[in-house]
Amino acid sequence: MERSTFLKIMGTGAVLACAGCGLVGCSGEDEPSPVGNAGPVDFTLDLTVAPNGPLNNVGGSLTTNGIIIARLSTTEVVALSQACTHQGTTIQFRPSSGDFRCPNHGSQFSSTGTVTQGPATRPLRRYNTELTGTSLRVFS
Ligand code: FES
Repeated sequence: MERSTFLKIMGTGAVLACAGCGLVGCSGEDEPSPVGNAGPVDFTLDLTVAPNGPLNNVGGSLTTNGIIIARLSTTEVVALSQACTHQGTTIQFRPSSGDFRCPNHGSQFSSTGTVTQGPATRPLRRYNTELTGTSLRVFS
């Protein structure tokens, strides 16, 4: 084999190998799609039943149907996708600051779902809420 032919083949192989490395590296850094964020949502919670009891108190929260619901005040309830947009860990409500934090890598989200601290870069999906007496409707 001619030296120039050998170098061409090896050069092409090296380029392909590097391209492969790059693809692997990129795929490892891709943000997964948030869990529980797809599709229409429309359900109603009866706040008189025990499992929904936390929402009767300001600062209370619960997760259901892939959504975290938190009582911000006597009149305000927020509902966000519960899956952190970084790697899908269930986020937690922080009553003292009225925001949400992921226990896995520390991403933080405002009560509207926007990222206030990474590593997450994408906001949480926010759902509409309608509080009527002891009935809470969550819908998209
Ligand atoms: S999974 Fe939430 S910050 Fe990484």
